[in-house]
Amino acid sequence: MKNFISIKDIPSIDKALEVAKKVKHDRFAYKDLGINKTMILIFFNSSLRTRLSTQKAAMNLGMNTMVLNVNQDGWKLESELGVIMDGDKPEHLKEAIPVIGSYCDIIGVRAFASLDDKEADYQERIIQQFIDYAGVPVVSMEAATRHPLQSFADLITIEEHKKTARPKVVLTWAPHPRPLPQAVANSFVEWMKETDYELVVTHPKGYELADHFMEGVTVEYDQKKAFEGADFIYAKNWSAYNDYGQILSKDRSWCVDTEKMGLTNDAKFMHCLPVRRNMIVSDSVIDSKNSIVIEEAANREISAQAVLKMILEDL
Ligand code: CP
Repeated sequence: MKNFISIKDIPSIDKALEVAKKVKHDRFAYKDLGINKTMILIFFNSSLRTRLSTQKAAMNLGMNTMVLNVNQDGWKLESELGVIMDGDKPEHLKEAIPVIGSYCDIIGVRAFASLDDKEADYQERIIQQFIDYAGVPVVSMEAATRHPLQSFADLITIEEHKKTARPKVVLTWAPHPRPLPQAVANSFVEWMKETDYELVVTHPKGYELADHFMEGVTVEYDQKKAFEGADFIYAKNWSAYNDYGQILSKDRSWCVDTEKMGLTNDAKFMHCLPVRRNMIVSDSVIDSKNSIVIEEAANREISAQAVLKMILEDL
């Protein structure tokens, strides 16, 4: 494996799950693989889970790790091509990326969607520059349109908790006070489509995700109807794709609560975290025995380690 930007980069779901299972069985069994290898983690945006789990995964494999918080620890970096650099960004990605690449064997990048330039976001202009100029493998730690390490961890978690071969998995939009990217939702749909699961997406009208993610996926605008018989409820907020980056609704009736969970087949509750309690999900649901958000977050270490293992083996 060269880069990890989307599900298209893994050999297959079955192979990725098999690697994840082995890693989880003994996460220190491959500690010689990364000896004298270095991973640099670049953050354009905040993180708790991604930063810690990816660093831990690299360390489990024997790698050295360095973390750079762009705009805090280093120079502000210009990402637009062809601009006159007379503003507050003294260095361009075109120099910064190959320099970073010269110090390491793998680069992890977190660069969220701007939400004000749909074309630039959906062309993945920042992470694509890393792929073009780094000279070493690039791992997405959430880019503008996808969060594949999260989706892989979500898949591992569902596999561990499913009670039937073909569980019903429902991705539900939920309200949030701020505009958020579509990356987690896009990516979750992309990964779930590759499984045999029954996938249903529910959201208010206007929150349709991009067609190329949603092709063939069932959308149910009635949230309660969507929840009926569900085995997994995956909650997430996202801003509108068509009215790009806009908040069209803050309707609190979309919050996942105990009454709605009662319509499901004793469903497990999932969210990638961080989560706003009593906006996205009620305390009663996230604190219930059916909430698997902590197991899901713990599996971020496993998904990251499985990905890094596959990349290291192909270096
Ligand atoms: N789920 C997730 O990516 O968490 P962080 O933003 O804290 O890394």
